[in-house]
Amino acid sequence: MMNQSKHRFTFEMTESPYSLYKEIRSIHPVYKGSFLKYPGWYVTGYQEALTILKDNRFQTRIPLPETTKKYEALKKIQSRMMLFKNPPDHGRLRMLVSHKFTPARIEKCRPYIEKIAIDLWNDLKNKKKIDVISDFAYPFASLVIARIIGIPDEDKDIFRGWALNLIQSLDFTRSRRSIVDGNNTTLEMLSFFKDLINKRSQSPQDDLISELLHQEDKKLTEEELLATSVLLVIAGHETTVNLISNSLYCLLENPKEYHKLIENPSLIESAIEECLRYESPTQMIARIASEDVELNNVQIRKGDHVYVLIGAANRDPNQFSNADTFDITRIPNPHLAFGSGIHFCLGSALARVEAQIAIQTLLQSEVNIHLETKEVEWRNLVGFRAMKEMYVHLYDQSTNH
Ligand code: HEM
Repeated sequence: MMNQSKHRFTFEMTESPYSLYKEIRSIHPVYKGSFLKYPGWYVTGYQEALTILKDNRFQTRIPLPETTKKYEALKKIQSRMMLFKNPPDHGRLRMLVSHKFTPARIEKCRPYIEKIAIDLWNDLKNKKKIDVISDFAYPFASLVIARIIGIPDEDKDIFRGWALNLIQSLDFTRSRRSIVDGNNTTLEMLSFFKDLINKRSQSPQDDLISELLHQEDKKLTEEELLATSVLLVIAGHETTVNLISNSLYCLLENPKEYHKLIENPSLIESAIEECLRYESPTQMIARIASEDVELNNVQIRKGDHVYVLIGAANRDPNQFSNADTFDITRIPNPHLAFGSGIHFCLGSALARVEAQIAIQTLLQSEVNIHLETKEVEWRNLVGFRAMKEMYVHLYDQSTNH
């Protein structure tokens, strides 16, 4: 019998999730447990995770307890986000936005994403020591998503606090306090975006909000536009910051792979895919069964909670050979880091390009990067894989200091 205390789960999910995943998978890839507040099925097998994500009988839902006056704004805005919508509403909302995030559209943004990365790095590379997360990844991801949505550059810093607050209120470890904070953040964001939408409806610019406001037909309502803007800020921020920092961490921790990439920069695409698989920024996606479903000899009942551990599926040895080995030449690499099915990450093309550019910028400069400590601390989250900070020392390659 496995020790299923919530404390053990949240502790191990922070410290060493992969050994915990292995232990759960060895009992059953679809394991009934009660680690979290709501007992449910913990899915660690790749095929099972894929099946669930593609099957609309497993529905998404707002990750909030029953409503109280204390977090009504948060609940209302979440209920209008595509992430928490099921068919048919989901498809309509997603269709109105999805053409802005296709790989071809994102390729057009490449020059300014590169410029943002280079400008930031030029200001940092002569320093002796930096925190990759707060000094580079955050301002980078903020500037990129702000530029795409249409938020003026000078306002981007306030987004860091907002994004941090909201991600905490979404995670399974959240406290009532963080939900209330999330509610206050939502109110601030709503007032910010209402103002911005007003400005853009009067004088449109070359940005997403203006485009969505002036779409010919099947427009989003103002409420939906507000919810979509807030969703894009949260989704486009935290996970991308974590993708960049986790990727650099994987490479610095695996010097052979790091040197392979330096010697052969064309490996950047497969390298980022491997970082996505190996240290997936999103570790868990929750669903609820809308009817009884049998899966791999277990009977999931209508109303049961299902926790798809994509970080575990991405290390399933039945799908990936040498699953615990970080190999930047791994092809094919059908990881589930961006989910699957109708909610497959809308921002995946953008996140990929951002991570490729960020890592290329850091690695192709005349600076050597060394982790300050191997004992990095991970944030106390179970749905996301995120370091608290990531200090590195920078050395000039020519003088080595
Ligand atoms: C610029 C960056 C990003 C943007 C704008 C973005 C946006 C979105 C949006 C709008 C959705 C909801 C799609 C829907 O419900 O149909 C979504 C889903 C998702 N995103 Fe992203 N995302 C970004 C980066 C990332 C990154 C870096 C990761 C992690 C590797 C990630 C992982 C996911 C996952 C796993 C889902 C599916 C959630 C579910 O099925 O419940 N996203 N993303």
